[in-house]
Amino acid sequence: MSTLSATAVPMSTTYEVAHQKCINVDCGATYSIDEVLTSCPKCHDLLDVAYDWNKVSVPKSLREFESKWLERHNPIRFSGVWRFHELLPFAPHHKIVTVGEGQTLLQQADSVAKYVGIRPGKLYLQYEGMNPSGSFKDNGMCAAFTHAHMVGAKRAACASTGNTSASLAMYCAVTQLMKAVIFIGTGKISYGKLSQALEYGALTVQIAGDFDDAMARVKEVSKELGIYLVNSINPFRLEGQKSVMFRVLEALRWESPDWIVVPGGNLGNSSAFGKAFIELKELGLIDRIPRLAVINAGGADTLDVLYNQRNLRWNRGRARMDIACWYYDELDKGKVKADTIASAIEINRPVNLKKCLRALDFCDGVVRQVSDQEILDAKAQVGAGGIGCEPASAASVAGAKLLRQQGVIGMDDRVVCILTGHQLKDPTATVAYHTTDQDKFNEVLGSRGVTRASFANRAVAVPNDVDAIVKAIQLYS
Ligand code: F0G
Repeated sequence: MSTLSATAVPMSTTYEVAHQKCINVDCGATYSIDEVLTSCPKCHDLLDVAYDWNKVSVPKSLREFESKWLERHNPIRFSGVWRFHELLPFAPHHKIVTVGEGQTLLQQADSVAKYVGIRPGKLYLQYEGMNPSGSFKDNGMCAAFTHAHMVGAKRAACASTGNTSASLAMYCAVTQLMKAVIFIGTGKISYGKLSQALEYGALTVQIAGDFDDAMARVKEVSKELGIYLVNSINPFRLEGQKSVMFRVLEALRWESPDWIVVPGGNLGNSSAFGKAFIELKELGLIDRIPRLAVINAGGADTLDVLYNQRNLRWNRGRARMDIACWYYDELDKGKVKADTIASAIEINRPVNLKKCLRALDFCDGVVRQVSDQEILDAKAQVGAGGIGCEPASAASVAGAKLLRQQGVIGMDDRVVCILTGHQLKDPTATVAYHTTDQDKFNEVLGSRGVTRASFANRAVAVPNDVDAIVKAIQLYS
């Protein structure tokens, strides 16, 4: 694992083909990619990384990317993100940072298909927890980190429910190019994730508040101290996250599935996936656009409320964001805080809301929310099929099941659920679900409305005696 400085692959793409562009159609201001921005200085809207595709040697078909597999000795082509460099060509090769991210799996999961109500062979799980820091974040972090390196940043910061901080801390520790500063909420981060940031040496700042508070503070503080911000409000992060869709298409031999189902927290993935499909279509590399389903947890359901109850839409780039502002005022007045066992998506003010609306518009999307009970049951099913995932990730499977019950997803549709984080990230919720100790169950899950563990695999308690152990194994196996 290393920072790249050698073995340049000859390509006509250089970072001169890229710029930053305000997504507000009434503004559309552009900025050089040398600038460090997290919003448009003119109108404060979100920024995209945009490309002059005429100057990029984009392959004529996605199949051409298969030839890159032969170049796996080159770290750029080994990376599951940078082997698609031509589709995110903002960085010159000598500045690209990689730790070998993106070696992830798309697996057909028939047992989960049965649970969801889809015909065997039609449901796939995309395991992004296989990334080096254990979540999808590495896809985006290598891109934001590369940009930070391009502009000479010495410190990088993020607010995090855990995975972003683990990923940032890892890139800092492996490359030694920057120092990580992470902002976390109080009691809102699982030990699995916190342990990574601490061990990788990140400066960890614990805010007396939740993720939404930490996000607001990190924006202010990083501006004041000139620290590079790597949350997904950073447009370069999302460029890296587009690669999840490139790999899904690659694993399906470049055929679009019918559905992509993804958990929604800060809405970075859904936004990135939408941008990936917009660009692939524009470049003539795909014909068919998959539909997108974004799944909130019931205790953090901003997108679901705004999309389904208040009818907030992309509206050709003129989304009524005042509807979101009013809603946030209501949350503040009612002192409503996000609350779900899926701690990674315990977010009430998603920073990428507007970009997600664009993705939903382009991909004929739908939004749903699922309860913590549904999330944990779905998670147990994913785990029972092997590899597993963390609670937030299972929202995608629970959402697919709900959409199937509602007849939105058809029995024969080809569905890809994105599993965003590794099973070992949040063992507390998993062990509580499978425990025989009712007090433990109630302590961790009861307050969240989880009343049963329908798919629990309980440990069998036996005396310290060979005969008793043999009997128990014969009885239960
Ligand atoms: N799944 C997992 C495992 C996550 O860690 C996150 C976000 C999400 C889903 C939601 O991401 O909606 O932006 O694409 N985690 C952030 C963090 C907030 O700090 O690690 P989305």
